[in-house]
Amino acid sequence: MSIDLTEETITAAVQETFEGCPDERMRTVFVMLVQHLHDFAREVRLTSEEWFTAVDFLERVGRICGPTRQEFVLLSDILGLSVLVDQINHGNGSATDSTLLGPFYVEGRPRAENGADISGGVPGMPLFFTGTVVDAEGRPVAGADVDTWHSDSEGFYDVQQQDQLHGEPAMRALLSTDDEGRFSYRSIVPRYYPVPTDGPCGEILRAAGRSPMRPEHIHFWFHAKGFDPLVTMLFRGDDPYLERDAVFGAKRSLVADFVQHESGETAPDGTAMTEPFQTVEWTFTLAAAQE
Ligand code: BEZ
Ligand code: FE
Repeated sequence: MSIDLTEETITAAVQETFEGCPDERMRTVFVMLVQHLHDFAREVRLTSEEWFTAVDFLERVGRICGPTRQEFVLLSDILGLSVLVDQINHGNGSATDSTLLGPFYVEGRPRAENGADISGGVPGMPLFFTGTVVDAEGRPVAGADVDTWHSDSEGFYDVQQQDQLHGEPAMRALLSTDDEGRFSYRSIVPRYYPVPTDGPCGEILRAAGRSPMRPEHIHFWFHAKGFDPLVTMLFRGDDPYLERDAVFGAKRSLVADFVQHESGETAPDGTAMTEPFQTVEWTFTLAAAQE
């Protein structure tokens, strides 16, 4: 019955309308969504004004979205939903921990050979990254696709400085692992940075007095035949924001050693360096694909 509904009876009335839904999963998700949405409104005694504010907010989140701006994902991130969903789906096992994808991955990234300089000429302290990709038994995974991307030394991604870089990609590449499961590249040392705060999500962070900062990190996304894709990041242990990541994505298991080297030392690619540089090495473990 959906007439003369009250605060008490409306929830069941809406849920009943999903009973004929042939997709069982959709039925479950919507019945529970209605339950929790209604309980939420009842519990906080949501005012009409607050409802209008929320609708206006969501409309503005939608308006600011575009090919290089994903404000809905950011909203999910700052509310911890993205990490919660990741934990639900990849919460245990022997593979390298996964974490957020974030909004700065872009499809049109250049392919690079192992050892290549992927900095795109952006200035900064040189960083040499050497990775190995293995399976759960520690055997190398050859021919894996490795996406990597990171910020510059001031915390900006290439897509945030399209004018200066003339739209050219920088500090990102798609590499492949060799027969020993290894991949390597040269780039620059990234830095911690604020999530974008010039949109509606920034309003929430400011109103709540929350920090917008993410600890310094390098992103990775692995694809290999026979394995689950892995989306992850590596963090620096002494980062001031490691324990208060604005999007809750930092994990101790993903803290790597960013080793400092002085001018005059030899880089992993054999270059005699005439400036200070850093090296990072890491082994990533992929989980076998679910049947
Ligand atoms: C990032 O690490 O690129 C990121 C993740 C979530 C929100 C904003 C940025
Ligand atoms: Fe990032």
